Amino acid sequence: MWAYEKRLQYPINIKKKDLRMAKLLVTQYGGSNGELAAALRYLNQRFTMPDDKGKALLTDIGTEELAHVEMLETMISQLLDGATVDEMKAAGLDSHYAEHKNALYPTDANGVPFTVAYFATTGDPVADLTEDIAAEQKARAVYENLINLTDDPDILGPLLWLRQREVVHYNRFSELLEYYQKKGY
Ligand SMILES: [Fe+2]
Repeated sequence: MWAYEKRLQYPINIKKKDLRMAKLLVTQYGGSNGELAAALRYLNQRFTMPDDKGKALLTDIGTEELAHVEMLETMISQLLDGATVDEMKAAGLDSHYAEHKNALYPTDANGVPFTVAYFATTGDPVADLTEDIAAEQKARAVYENLINLTDDPDILGPLLWLRQREVVHYNRFSELLEYYQKKGY
């Protein structure tokens, strides 16, 4: 089970509405390299890790990724806060508005909806951890792309912090893979 703490893992206070960045940032919410995909992938894969050590790491990181989903949701909603129909149209978000008004909806930056295919689970610990290690690098790379697309310090702070967490997860998954490979998996 989970216990909810009513605070964000990293503080977010975006003061400037920016629909263009909301449209791009959504990819780390609902895209293939995003936080929702990571959270659900790890929390799903953990059941077929060979021992408690693996199950615990996948649970820890999957849980943290849920907190990152919440951060992305907060950032996107603050960036969209008070947006009018005309502003949505001007930002290319008219099709989003047609389906969801100003609500959150997990897609990538091109509007492709989240899919369960992002779970990418094989039941093989070496294959799954290799997938997860790559996923962390891809998430880091996408955060860097997003960092290059804004000058707003209120957006850059959380993005830099989230990028760093991907590096930490990459290292922890790499250690676990090495541990299993030494054990002959
Ligand atoms: Fe991660």
